[in-house]
Amino acid sequence: MTGISPTLATALLGVILVAVCAALPAQEPSSLPDHPYWERPIPLQGNAPPLPPGAEEIIANLSADGCRPCHQPQWEAWKGSLHATAVTPGLLGQLGAFDAATQDDCLACHAPRQEMVDQWWKQGLDSTLVRSGVDCATCHVRAHVRHGPRTVAETPHGQVSEQPLFRQAEFCAPCHQFDESGFSVNGKPLENTYVEWRQSRYAREGVTCQACHMPEKQHGFKGIHDRQTIRSALTVEARRTREGIRLRAGNTGAGHALPTYVTPRVLIRLEGRATDAVIEHVIARRMRWSRESGWEELADDRLFPDQWITLVLALPEEEGGRISVRVEPDYDYHERVYPALLNMLVDDLSEREKSYLQQALELTGDTPYTLYQLDCPEWSGHEAPCEETP
Ligand code: HEC
Ligand code: HEC
Ligand code: HEC
Ligand code: HEC
Ligand code: HEC
Repeated sequence: MTGISPTLATALLGVILVAVCAALPAQEPSSLPDHPYWERPIPLQGNAPPLPPGAEEIIANLSADGCRPCHQPQWEAWKGSLHATAVTPGLLGQLGAFDAATQDDCLACHAPRQEMVDQWWKQGLDSTLVRSGVDCATCHVRAHVRHGPRTVAETPHGQVSEQPLFRQAEFCAPCHQFDESGFSVNGKPLENTYVEWRQSRYAREGVTCQACHMPEKQHGFKGIHDRQTIRSALTVEARRTREGIRLRAGNTGAGHALPTYVTPRVLIRLEGRATDAVIEHVIARRMRWSRESGWEELADDRLFPDQWITLVLALPEEEGGRISVRVEPDYDYHERVYPALLNMLVDDLSEREKSYLQQALELTGDTPYTLYQLDCPEWSGHEAPCEETP
């Protein structure tokens, strides 16, 4: 798709959160880590070197399936991760609506190998390589040489080259941090994960992204889409007191704001069993975009590392209550971005692109889940904890 109007282009940029930052040129050099290993797009790997005697031909195959037979555990964990599906229907449905430079920007994080980018420009939606997303070679292979956290002298693919970067948070920053000198709202880039981490005690204590997201070097990269991961970090304690229900919620395990992005939200609801007493609290960074004022931050109610909040619901002594904590990992995509894109681009998108966006709208509607449900007793003369119910 080509030739969308300038007005439409501006409006598009308003809809796509991540896109804005990617598309705006940086005003000054960045003070963020800029390691030559992460030159993107990742340069063409070139021809495979001659195979060492006796080596299997598969080692010339740099796709994830080429690594699979010898690195099955990494492959399986990665296959279930969002890195393996970094090119979602939601991305495919909108990518073609941008100008070429912006499309290249998007690919720099979602499908960053030059081989992928080239195929995208030749084959568009028919490209299969682009669908591999952030694959093994994206992180591990440069010019056919395997890189990793340590040197391994002898492998079927020759010596594995040690890069200390693999053990550092800076390894993840290029794709999980927008440039400081680029687009910010209220002093904060829309994607600020690395800086949030650097300002936390986890950075001081040497707890890297990998320590939490790759425990024992596993390749699952679990985050807010995984119930167990967020349960390990969002602590909720609630008690029945004389006045009602007192709830405390704290970020006790995420090394950055919880959630770190502007798209997810966590909804805490306290309600009485009999009356219609109710409190709802949203943990999220809430943004608004309008043609007149651009981006505004309405509120930043995320929980930064070790931060706690308290909510109190007043109840009559004889009334018990309930609490639910619900996670909506793709809230903003589902509620705002995809409906707006479908609406705005209705005349510009191909049928295929539209059906991708429709699919994205459905998929992002399926990701919410209940994290905790608690039952709180009536007042019985002393404080009592609210108990988790299945
Ligand atoms: C024919 C089998 C084979 C294939 C195919 C293969 N590897 Fe390996 N690889 C090995 C062996 C054997 C080792 C050394 C033992 C080990 O550490 O697992 C190794 C080691 C590694 C290491 C270092 C591991 C460490 O312990 O620090 C990395 C990284 C790596 N391979 C990446 C890859 C990637 C990426 C691919 C696909 C592009 C790939 N390998 C394809 C067999 C293979
Ligand atoms: C997003 C980047 C990323 C992707 C994608 C990725 N890896 Fe890794 N891999 C890492 C990092 C970082 C480490 C080092 C972790 C550490 O030391 O804590 C690592 C470690 C490894 C190791 C050494 C593990 C060990 O136990 O010593 C192997 C082997 C490996 N990766 C293979 C693969 C294969 C095969 C794939 C694809 C199926 C893959 N990786 C995909 C980043 C990645
Ligand atoms: C600096 C790296 C970076 C750039 C550049 C970037 N993205 Fe992303 N994008 C991400 C990350 C990281 C996520 C995951 C956010 C999350 O977990 O919610 C993401 C998520 C998304 C999603 C949601 C995926 C889904 O679940 O459907 C879409 C769509 C998307 N990006 C589109 C784009 C488009 C379009 C562009 C270019 C205009 C772009 N991105 C540029 C890093 C980037
Ligand atoms: C080449 C770019 C790139 C690199 C490097 C990278 N990521 Fe990602 N990561 C992405 C993209 C793109 C997504 C979003 C995929 C989607 O939803 O479309 C993502 C998703 C994730 C998610 C899932 C978020 C969720 O919403 O549940 C986690 C966790 C994550 N990355 C952690 C890491 C860690 C830890 C590292 C470093 C070891 C790393 N990433 C390195 C591009 C990258
Ligand atoms: C102390 C453990 C810890 C550290 C360190 C950590 N994370 Fe996380 N991360 C979590 C937990 C727990 C979640 C799930 C809760 C949440 O979404 O904040 C998460 C969620 C995420 C997500 C999902 C998206 C979202 O909106 O929350 C991404 C992406 C991510 N982390 C990337 C990173 C990167 C990149 C780093 C390093 C700069 C990092 N994390 C450091 C524990 C950690």
